[in-house]
Amino acid sequence: MKYFKHSTSIIDKNCKIGKNTKIWHWSHISANVKIGANCIIGQNVFIGNNVKIGNNVKIQNNVSIYEGVTLENDVFCGPSVVFTNVKFPRSKIKIKSKNYLKTLVKTGATLGANSTILSNVTIGSYALIGAGSVVTKNVPSNKVIIGNPGKIYATITKTNKIKKKGTLKPAKKKKKKTKII
Ligand SMILES: CC(C)(COP(=O)(O)OP(=O)(O)OC[C@H]1O[C@@H](n2cnc3c(N)ncnc32)[C@H](O)[C@@H]1OP(=O)(O)O)[C@@H](O)C(=O)NCCC(=O)NCCS
Repeated sequence: MKYFKHSTSIIDKNCKIGKNTKIWHWSHISANVKIGANCIIGQNVFIGNNVKIGNNVKIQNNVSIYEGVTLENDVFCGPSVVFTNVKFPRSKIKIKSKNYLKTLVKTGATLGANSTILSNVTIGSYALIGAGSVVTKNVPSNKVIIGNPGKIYATITKTNKIKKKGTLKPAKKKKKKTKII
């Protein structure tokens, strides 16, 4: 088997798709996209022109990956992850392909459900982005990010051993001493 594409999906010209990759219902792979072997592209996924995706990448339903994005091997994109490639988008300003901003997601990183990845960032190997987080800066390898804007919450190994920082909890309020009159 070369790769599988459901009949409702569309693959534009000059795409290269690796062995055993599966592309499920209503997904659109734009022109010149490279996808490696053993990947899963879920339902209703959009992949923009010239995007590069490595081997064994899992992309859940409703993910949007725009031009300028590169996903290395073993990356996991949870449902409804959104990438961006323009910092100040305007309906009336046309952006040339070469001016789209870049985003790199390195080997083994996981992007949680509904996370938003702003452009011009690199997400390090085996980093984990918490569900619903907004990534605005580079993420070091093996760090867990949560919140908007995303902040480091923990360190994690590729086998999910997690060491929490514990600094995101609100500081404990000092008990007020009641004055004895
Ligand atoms: C980030 C994550 C790994 C943290 O897991 P964890 O360390 O077990 O976290 P806990 O559930 O113990 O929560 C610890 C604290 O962080 C908060 N928290 C957990 N995940 C959060 C997130 N994504 N965004 C904001 N806060 C979060 C919790 O509310 C809790 O806060 P509290 O201490 O004030 O009560 C996990 O919550 C997550 O988001 N995983 C991604 C899931 C996903 O998207 N899967 C997609 C495939 S289905």
